[in-house]
Amino acid sequence: MKFFLDSAKLDEIDKAYKCYGIDGVTTNPRHIMASGKPFLVAISDIANWIKENNLEGMDKFPVSVEINPHLDKAEDMIKAAKEVSAMCENFVIKIPCTLEGLSAAKALEEAGIRTNVTLVFSASQAIQAGRIGAKFVSPFIGWKENNGEDTYNYMAQIANIYHNKLYDTEIIAAAVRSGKTIAEMAELDIDIITCSLQVLEDSFNHPYTTFGLKTFSDAWDNTKGN
Ligand code: E4P
Repeated sequence: MKFFLDSAKLDEIDKAYKCYGIDGVTTNPRHIMASGKPFLVAISDIANWIKENNLEGMDKFPVSVEINPHLDKAEDMIKAAKEVSAMCENFVIKIPCTLEGLSAAKALEEAGIRTNVTLVFSASQAIQAGRIGAKFVSPFIGWKENNGEDTYNYMAQIANIYHNKLYDTEIIAAAVRSGKTIAEMAELDIDIITCSLQVLEDSFNHPYTTFGLKTFSDAWDNTKGN
């Protein structure tokens, strides 16, 4: 299972790549806002970071960038997607899973511009992303959890459908908020999970590891001759 970082902050992307070897990045308008930069500056900075780190190439290090969410007509989405995608070969264009969005994603994939169908909340939506040959589909998890909905069976159903139908589209478990979900997605053989740096780092820890280190350090210090 690959790990993407859900962030548009360069310091977080740099740390997650250099320390933990993340495989790509996903952004959304909320992450761009949190970076404190205007949209075009934030994504240009990520494009420059890609060059500095010799990571050019969509398959080497894909970065999902969401176009203006106000656009609700396929032709406007296609125009915006073409402009953003021309900025960096690593950019995958996030398109919302709506009627107009799927139509735009289909046209973009046919034109060789790779897409990530986002804001997916059901298996029936995920099927459409697979059918049109999107590079990625992003079923959201955290948002459904917040709404008190099941997420394990929902992701299992999507994974089963994709494996049976042999869609080339890779599944990104999006908005992952816990180590428990990371383990569940690995168990379901989901292709990729994306989460914040905090969730990623928290998933490396366990209180017993901290407790164990203290216990063993005390023993070390009290060992005769040390
Ligand atoms: C994936 O692309 C993201 O996880 C998705 O956009 C949701 O992110 P957020 O809920 O952490 O903002």
